[in-house]
Amino acid sequence: MSQPAPHEQVASTFDRWAENGRDSGMETEHADVVLQVVALMDVRPGQRILDLGCGNGWGTRLLAQAAPGATAVGIDVSPAMVARAEAAHTNTIRARYEVGRFETLEFRDKSFDRAFSVEALYYAVDLERALAEIARVLKAGGRVDFVLDFYRESPATEQWVELVGLPMHFLSIDEWIARLERAGFGTVRAERIVDRRGPGRGSSDPSDDPHLSEAMHRSGSLWLSALKSS
Ligand SMILES: C[S@@+](CC[C@H](N)C(=O)[O-])C[C@H]1O[C@@H](n2cnc3c(N)ncnc32)[C@H](O)[C@@H]1O
Repeated sequence: MSQPAPHEQVASTFDRWAENGRDSGMETEHADVVLQVVALMDVRPGQRILDLGCGNGWGTRLLAQAAPGATAVGIDVSPAMVARAEAAHTNTIRARYEVGRFETLEFRDKSFDRAFSVEALYYAVDLERALAEIARVLKAGGRVDFVLDFYRESPATEQWVELVGLPMHFLSIDEWIARLERAGFGTVRAERIVDRRGPGRGSSDPSDDPHLSEAMHRSGSLWLSALKSS
């Protein structure tokens, strides 16, 4: 039998995660770091925010509530994740969710003020194209904020590739900065954010290995932020 195309492979992997309830595990796992990052993002009233790889949309909903009149759109290649996001949605929150791919964003040029992503961009089938698409849909001066646990300076996470069973981009902090600059971003900042709850805080680590969890906690999550050059 022939191999499924790369996006179908990613979608079916995360459809399975959603069906097994691992979407809420991710929320538990990343909540503290993401709350710290959202507080540092300084979302302004009325800003329009794109959440790439939104999963069940918990981050999308946080962003939509981060400032008065802010709106957020989550996209995800996994239809089951988008269904979970829609099921968890409440009408008082200005958020919506769509099935879509990082590499072919179905939005007009310069239609967002901010782009955000948690634990998702390293799965991009074509990272260069994904970053170019993010730059295209952002307004001049628009800002990206990405949170990533899977990066070279957190060496214990390298084993995720085998555990997840998908091709993944295992880049160093400098490589991420270079990729962002090549895609037209400047003022790139990289910071490590440590979960204030300590190690072993959730269930989304695919290994469930306490040693990996401790090593990951020591390394922290990588927060990248950058501005689209005008
Ligand atoms: C580890 S989950 C993180 C989900 C969410 N951000 C969270 O923190 O709960 C990664 C998500 O990225 C999505 N994804 C991966 N590659 C994608 C692509 N090329 N286009 C769109 N979504 C993608 C997956 O379907 C998955 O739901």
